Amino acid sequence: MPMDIHGVKSRAEHEIEAARDPETLEKIRIKYLGRKGEVTAVLRSLSGLSLGSRREIGPRAQELKRELEAALKEKLNGFAASYLRPKIDLTAPGKKISRGHLHPLTLVDREIRKIFLGFNFSVVEGPEVETEYYNFDALNIPPDHPARDEWDTFWLLENTSSGKTQGTKRKNDTRLAPSDKLLLRTHTSPVQARYMESHNPPFQIIVPGRVFRYEATDQNHEINFYQLEGLMVGKNITLANFKFIVEEFFKKFFGPQFTSRRIEFRYRPSYFPFVEPGVEVDIKLKNRWLEVMGAGMVHPRVFEYAHYNPRDFQGFAFGVGVDRLAMIKYGIPDIRLFYSGDLRFIRQFS
Ligand code: DAH
Repeated sequence: MPMDIHGVKSRAEHEIEAARDPETLEKIRIKYLGRKGEVTAVLRSLSGLSLGSRREIGPRAQELKRELEAALKEKLNGFAASYLRPKIDLTAPGKKISRGHLHPLTLVDREIRKIFLGFNFSVVEGPEVETEYYNFDALNIPPDHPARDEWDTFWLLENTSSGKTQGTKRKNDTRLAPSDKLLLRTHTSPVQARYMESHNPPFQIIVPGRVFRYEATDQNHEINFYQLEGLMVGKNITLANFKFIVEEFFKKFFGPQFTSRRIEFRYRPSYFPFVEPGVEVDIKLKNRWLEVMGAGMVHPRVFEYAHYNPRDFQGFAFGVGVDRLAMIKYGIPDIRLFYSGDLRFIRQFS
């Protein structure tokens, strides 16, 4: 029986290739290599052939058998490997990829900057390690002034290796001999003094930044927190200008959230050495009055420290706690949460 060995080979290989499971492979094996298989039949028929045909067909049939066995084995191994692989359930809900996001204080900081940039204010920054002069003296808070007690201060160790004896220069006149004793700034107000030293009015700036207080912590106090300072100086600037800016700011900042009722404002007389008159601003949100800001008209002495003539210019200044604004906006009960690093808290702002 002359055999189309080549035809059998290509047919069998094709079927093996197309097999999708071990059961199909077994059927193919039986079909070609089983007791009554096609290749087996060829091998059986060899004995009835002439020596010449036997020599020709015999080795080719043997080779085909080996090839098919090898191909079946290889395909079967492939199945085994894929059965070991974990099955993928394409209908399972996807795992949520957690992405980083901004801290609530950063969100608030960005929003504040955006609002003030819209009022044509510029953003200015200053150093966190400050001198006594800028933090106090230039803001009309001379040494031994009782108001210094308002700002519990982290003083830095004096650098004695410089050979300078710090602090002695200011013995008689703080204006001629500024104190370069170092501290962690207790407010952002020193940047007012720094900015005015090197810029001429008119201008309007905000100063966002980190400040430090040597205080016991509780839900409303941290040793480290953030403030925003504002300063607008020019000719004929009045408290009316301040009132407009600050009310527009708070309407934009809290407005979208507390829209049901118009925000009410209240201005109470207050005292800060660097302004005259000084005020505190309260806003009424959800029927509660909240104290949100200290402000006033820049004190003539502060202008003099900056070498401005107080007769030429007027200005307003304000200072606000960024943490406090964030607490009001998001209903956060404890300032310490901002600095806790507790992801259960932080993740709520994604
Ligand atoms: N620097 C003040 C503080 O830290 C806040 C403040 C009050 C800033 C009145 C001002 C201002 O610019 O005019 O308590």
